This record gives sequence, structure tokens and C-alpha cells, in this order.
Amino acid sequence: MINLGINNIANMEKLNEGHNLYINLTDGRNMKKVLLIQKTFVDQKLIINQRGALNLDEKRSHKNIVFSEINQRKKILTKNLVPGNTVYGEHTITINKFEYRTWDPFRSKLAAAILNGLSSDILSNLKSVLYLGVSTGTTASHVSDIIGESGILFGIEISARSARDFLENVASVRKNIIPEVADSRHPDLYTSVFQKVDMVYCDIAQPDQTRIAIENCNSFLKNSGYLFLVIKAHSIDVLKNPKDVFAEEVKKLTNNFAIEYQINLEPFDKAHSMVIAKKIN
Ligand SMILES: C[S@@+](CC[C@H](N)C(=O)[O-])C[C@H]1O[C@@H](n2cnc3c(N)ncnc32)[C@H](O)[C@@H]1O
Repeated sequence: MINLGINNIANMEKLNEGHNLYINLTDGRNMKKVLLIQKTFVDQKLIINQRGALNLDEKRSHKNIVFSEINQRKKILTKNLVPGNTVYGEHTITINKFEYRTWDPFRSKLAAAILNGLSSDILSNLKSVLYLGVSTGTTASHVSDIIGESGILFGIEISARSARDFLENVASVRKNIIPEVADSRHPDLYTSVFQKVDMVYCDIAQPDQTRIAIENCNSFLKNSGYLFLVIKAHSIDVLKNPKDVFAEEVKKLTNNFAIEYQINLEPFDKAHSMVIAKKIN
């Protein structure tokens, strides 16, 4: 624990502006050393708890995605499109006056895929996304951060309850999201999707999801755009070896797509894999 003098406390309050965590950048070369601290009030005095050191990996980081290490654990953060607003209890940190949200790989399969080797280059070039199965918006909110205010994300969700939470907590405060309660089995019935997109993200955990993803891509994915398909082996066939299930689903894509990545999501998600495929037909 570090007790700060009164001048430092005043600075600290100014810089934090109500946020929980504060990062103090110090010099470095590729990796910048920073100090992560949390402020709490004890007996009306500000006490600073030292929480560990965060290293920014500037080579891998892009405009809206930051790669870092804290206490030897790799972390990803996205630049918060709506500073002060969080979605699922994630921490925020301020770096050079911009707020970033930590991206939890145990809550988001896209974060898990990135930590397991998916290059973030594809993501950092995206401008438009059709997202099937947004649920309450955990992953969609980070994709919204990445595409930024000039991007657009169409969020499809079949469950009215999840869609209501998504609308209230995420879409209503993020101007680059257009939510729709719809069944992704019927892309021809969408009323909100008014353009072709750079990426179709499909995470609906249905046995026929690969067929559904392909139909959505036929309707809305640009040529050379990307399909991100989450495969949950147990949703497709609980008795088969997950490896065989993954191979069968990937085979269904090969006529129309070039497979760029197939990433196992363990240890974050058991028997899950993510396929990233580029549309070629
Ligand atoms: C695994 S959850 C998605 C989690 C979310 N992608 C995330 O990372 O934050 C699957 C979601 O797909 C939705 N879903 C299932 N079948 C669907 C369908 N046919 N059309 C649209 N959404 C569907 C479910 O209601 C559920 O919210």
C-alpha cells in the first residue's frame, strides 16, 4: 500500500474522473511499463493499493485494441466507445486520457480466439458487421468498440429477453449498433440490415448453425469478407469426438470459403472452436 501526499491525491482524483483504475505510464521501448492502482477511501483518506504492473505490447496493439500483460498474464482491452459505461462488470483503465475496457476471454469467445492466436489485423480493418446471436452483448460491445463510431453492427437475437437487455444496456448507448429481434434462420425476413457487411459473426449454438451462417453470408457478406463461426461441438453432436465435429463443419464451408484460421478455444471454453473463413464465391 502506498499513501500519497495531498498534492498527489488531488492529481489522482482529477485524472481518475470517477473511474476505478488508474495507469501511470513510464518510459519504455516497445513495451511501456505502467503502474496499475486502485483507489479506495478508508477513514476519509485516499489509500492507493498497488495491483501490479501492466506492460503494453505496442507491436500487437492497434487503434482500438490494446494487448498487454499484467502479472505475467496476457490481457486484451478495447477502447471504450462510451467512456464511463461498462457492460458486464469489466474493469476500465485509462491510458493517455482514453478509457479502455478489459476483454474477458472466459466471457467472450472472440477474446479467447485472439489470446489463442487469432491475429487482430482482420478485426482492426472492419467497418460493418452482421452479428448472429448477440445475446446480452458481451462480445458485441467489444466489436462495437473496435469498429468505432463510423462503423455499424447489426445485432440479431432470437430471445426477446436477451434482446431487451441488449437493447437497454448496450445498443441504446452505442450509436453504431442496430439491434433486431429475429431468427437468423430467416435472413430474408430481417428488417434492419440495409447493407452488405465486412464480417458475419455467428455464435448461435444451434445444430444447423453452419448452414444458417452460410445463408446469412450469401445474403449479406461482401466478397472477400469474413465469416467468424463459433462451433460448440456439443450443440451439434454430443456423442461425437469434438475434433470430428469441427472437421465436418469446416468441410461444409470449403466450397464457398477459404479457411484462414481454426482455433481451439480451450482452456477458456471446453469443446469449442472458432473458424475464420474468407468468402471466395
Ligand atoms: C452462446 S450465446 C451468444 C453469446 C454472445 N455471442 C457473446 O459472446 O456475448 C447464443 C445466443 O444465440 C441466440 N440464438 C440461438 N438461436 C438463434 C437464432 N436462430 N437466431 C438468432 N439468435 C439465436 C441465443 O438466444 C443466445 O442468446
